[in-house]
Amino acid sequence: MATGAQVRTLTRNPDAAGLPQQVDVMRGDLTLPDTLDACLDGIDTVFLVWVAPPATIAAVLERIAKHARRIVFLSAPLKTAHPLFQQPNPFREVTAQMERLIESSGLQWTFLRPGMFAANALRWWAPQIRAGNVVRWPYVSVPTAPIDERDIAAVAVRALCEEGHARAEYVLTGPQSLSQAEQVLTIGQVIGRSLRIEEISPEEARRELLAIMPASVINMLLDAWAAGIGQPAFVTSTVAEITRAPARTFLDWTTDHAAAFRG
Ligand SMILES: NC(=O)c1ccc[n+]([C@@H]2O[C@H](COP(=O)([O-])OP(=O)(O)OC[C@H]3O[C@@H](n4cnc5c(N)ncnc54)[C@H](OP(=O)(O)O)[C@@H]3O)[C@@H](O)[C@H]2O)c1
Repeated sequence: MATGAQVRTLTRNPDAAGLPQQVDVMRGDLTLPDTLDACLDGIDTVFLVWVAPPATIAAVLERIAKHARRIVFLSAPLKTAHPLFQQPNPFREVTAQMERLIESSGLQWTFLRPGMFAANALRWWAPQIRAGNVVRWPYVSVPTAPIDERDIAAVAVRALCEEGHARAEYVLTGPQSLSQAEQVLTIGQVIGRSLRIEEISPEEARRELLAIMPASVINMLLDAWAAGIGQPAFVTSTVAEITRAPARTFLDWTTDHAAAFRG
């Protein structure tokens, strides 16, 4: 909005969206393409996040292409050679299918390819940390480069509002390779508590993580982490190059989200 652009958002639950007043919040559901027309009316550019089942992808993209000129798609690092990003899984297939349809849609497109979100810590570790000082987690020595969601948004704003990003594929990561254990310890440091990490086996994780995510996501993560053993995380400088500001560190992110871990 600092760019002066008018922003409209589609959500299934407008009452829970919690967006600034200037944002036009409309109800819609990606699994029900008919519900999108009102939201797309008069729209020039679309930022698409796809978390729905694949059945309506083609119908949704057809509708977007009727209204919009440009699309920025939140994808994943499908083409990055690092093994953590190369494991087969159903989400990867859906994302690749979407990219093919977008490329042939006639829309001007940009693909954002973020690695692990820093915000995953809210779902993965915050409940355990609010409840005590022990975090049970698999593959704790595996490094990732968690990216602050505000940096993904900052790149998205550039791609949505500026010229010069057509057909670009931006691999976006945080600025540092940090093991999962280091990330948990960073949270402990920020909230002033000595957290203890208890490494659990992949089999234990398959059972215990069902409380916070579906089996398909657990399998995807376990395969990715297993492939990432012993390798530094893949780190790019793309956020800084595009936004002309340094990418936020995991310490920055944790400091700004400390309340979620204090409970
Ligand atoms: N998490 C990561 O580390 C990571 C890394 C790389 C790429 N990605 C990609 O980033 C995207 C978001 O991931 P996430 O982990 O943030 O997902 P998420 O928390 O499960 O969902 C994000 C949003 O999707 C909306 N949504 C779900 N179903 C919808 C539907 N049928 N119609 C309209 N909106 C719907 C929900 O909003 P409402 O409930 O308000 O409708 C929800 O707030 C995914 O495409 C994922 O593949 C994630």
